[in-house]
Amino acid sequence: MGDISGMKAPLLSIIIPTFNERGNMPLIIPGISKVLGREGIPYEIVVMDDDSPDGTARAVKELSDEYPQARCIVRTTDRGLSPSVIQGFVEARGDIYLVMDADLSHPVEALPRMYRSIVDDGADIVVGSRHTKGGGIENWPFMRRFISFGAALMARPLTTCSDPMSGFFAIRPEVLKNTELRPKGYKILLEILVKGRYGRISEVPITFKDREVGQSKLGSKVMLNYIQHLLELYLYPGSAPFFKFLFVGGTGMLVDLGMVSLLLLTLGDERLDILTFNGIRSFYLFQAVSFIYAVTWNFVWNRYWTFDARSGSSSVQYTRFMVVAIVAFLIRSALLFLAVDILGLDYQPLYQIALLSVILVVTVINYLGSKLWAFRK
Ligand code: GDD
Ligand code: MN
Repeated sequence: MGDISGMKAPLLSIIIPTFNERGNMPLIIPGISKVLGREGIPYEIVVMDDDSPDGTARAVKELSDEYPQARCIVRTTDRGLSPSVIQGFVEARGDIYLVMDADLSHPVEALPRMYRSIVDDGADIVVGSRHTKGGGIENWPFMRRFISFGAALMARPLTTCSDPMSGFFAIRPEVLKNTELRPKGYKILLEILVKGRYGRISEVPITFKDREVGQSKLGSKVMLNYIQHLLELYLYPGSAPFFKFLFVGGTGMLVDLGMVSLLLLTLGDERLDILTFNGIRSFYLFQAVSFIYAVTWNFVWNRYWTFDARSGSSSVQYTRFMVVAIVAFLIRSALLFLAVDILGLDYQPLYQIALLSVILVVTVINYLGSKLWAFRK
C-alpha cells in the first residue's frame, strides 16, 4: 500500500468520538487541517457524535464549509465511546484509520509521524504512547497516574504495547478483517491488540494534555468495566499464551494422574508389580497410556485456546506436539541424571530444588517448542 512515487498518497481517516465537545470542534478540526495540510497528507475527519445536546454536530456542520474534509455522523442508538469508534471504522473511507479524542489531549503534531509509520515503515498498528521513551502526561494528579500505571500493568501479559489504554492510535483496515470487536469496554485499542490480525506495531511518543474545554465523561464505573474487559480478553483464544499454557499443563497433570488411577483401579492390583503383561509391569504400561492421554488433552486445549491455531493441519501439529513432549521428557531425565549422579544432589532439600529447576526449564522448552514449531502459524 506504500506511497510509491507517482501513486496517490493513502487517505487518512481520522475518527473522533464525541459527546458534548462543541467547544473543541473549532480547535481540533483546524488544528488537524493545518498540520496535515502542511505535510500534504490527504485526510478526512469523521466525527462520531452521540447526538450531543450541546450542538457538537451543528458546530461540525458550520466548520465543514471551510473544512470540507470534516463530516459528522449523529448516532442515536447504542451510545458509548467504543461503539462509536467501531461504527467509525465502518463509515471511514480511507486507507488508514486513526482514532483520537476531541479534547486536544492527543497532540495533532503527532499525526504525520503516525501516518508515516504505517505508509513508509510498514507498521500495521501505531500507538500514540504516553509510556514510551519521550512520552508523558502533563499535569495529571498522582492518583490518576497511579491508576493508569496499574491498569497498564494488568494488561502487560496481553500485549507488548507500552500504552494499550491509549485512545490515540492508527491501524490498517486489514487488522480488523474477520475480527469481531466487542464494544463493551472503553479500551478499544486493547481489544484490537488482542483480537486483531497484525504483524508490526510501532509507537510514537506523545504528551497527553488534560482537556481545557468541556468535561471528562469517564468515571469510576469505568474501572469495574475495565477489569471485566480484561478478564474476557485473558480468556480469549490466543491471548497471553504462556499463562494459558501453564494452566493447561496443570490440568494435564491432573488428567495424567486421574487416568493412571482409573487404570490401576479397574485393571491393576494393589501391589503395583503383581500384574504384568509379557513381563512388563503393568504400571509402566498404564503410565504410558496416561501420558499419551494427557498429551492429547493438552494438545486439544493448546490448539484451540492457548495458541488459537485452528488454521493449521491438526495431524502435523499433533505429531510435532508429541515429539516436543517426548523430547522434553528425555531432556528432563537427562538433566535430572546430571543433577543427581554427576553433581551429586542426591539429598534433601537440594534434590527438590534441582527437580523444581529442571521442571521449570523443561516447561519453557515445551512452551517454545509448541509455540515456535508445533503450532507455528
Ligand atoms: N461518541 C461518544 N460517546 N464519544 C464519547 C463518549 C460517548 O459516550 N464518551 C466520551 N466520548 C469521547 C469524548 O467526547 C472525547 O472525545 C473522547 O471520547 C475521550 O473522552 P474523555 O471524556 O475526554 O475521556 P478521558 O480524557 O478521561 O479519557 C481518554 O483518555 C484515556 C487515556 O487516559 C480516552 O481517550 C480514553 O480512550 C483514553 O484511554
Ligand atoms: Mn479527555
